[in-house]
Amino acid sequence: MDKQNKIIVVGIGPGNPDYIVPKGLKTIQNARYLVGGKRALTEFAQAGQDTCAITADIQGVMAFIRNRLPQADVVVMVSGDPGYYSLLDALRREFAPEQIAVIPGISSMQYAFAKIALPWHDAALVSFHGRVPEAEAIKYQPGKIMGMLTDRNYNSHTIAKILRNNGWPEETEFYICSRLSYEDEAIYTATLQNAADFPVVTHGILIVKS
Ligand SMILES: C[S@@+](CC[C@H](N)C(=O)[O-])C[C@H]1O[C@@H](n2cnc3c(N)ncnc32)[C@H](O)[C@@H]1O
Repeated sequence: MDKQNKIIVVGIGPGNPDYIVPKGLKTIQNARYLVGGKRALTEFAQAGQDTCAITADIQGVMAFIRNRLPQADVVVMVSGDPGYYSLLDALRREFAPEQIAVIPGISSMQYAFAKIALPWHDAALVSFHGRVPEAEAIKYQPGKIMGMLTDRNYNSHTIAKILRNNGWPEETEFYICSRLSYEDEAIYTATLQNAADFPVVTHGILIVKS
């Protein structure tokens, strides 16, 4: 294998192409081999590029990359930032770290904190995406700020209940962020008590500020 060729993992940001960094966009545009979710491929892939859609068949994606890498770099698009819950984990299990280069992107978490103009340097960040974090990680402390990834089961309604059961006061500020960066972006300012009065948000960002 040509040792020079790399798997270049590009973070494409929260969704709207206005939020991808120029270096990432150039890398995607110049790619010979391009991997990404169907939506990202529709947005960014160009005529003549050899593409592979990321589906549940992750081994199929790995095979595509392994077969093309001897010929040229393979560019892999992931949402948000590659360092924050992305295919980068699986790529590192499959390929040597020296074969991987990363171009960072704006995480949906980072974008959400920006939208409510709240610094996140002291925030606890946890993921409810397919998991429940350890009780210790989500326990209430006065002054605590916490950002959360969500999914279909652990959504803005169920997580509000979980936090109340973990000692968070009912009046805690609760920001419910949906479809960040898209035209139909919505950010609801709620409390843990009245969260159920707002539309349920499944794949979004939640922020609590006590
Ligand atoms: C597998 S994680 C990927 C995180 C991604 N690497 C990042 O840095 O944003 C998927 C979760 O990210 C959040 N997410 C990603 N894009 C989003 C967006 N545009 N608006 C709101 N939440 C988003 C949702 O919680 C979703 O379930």
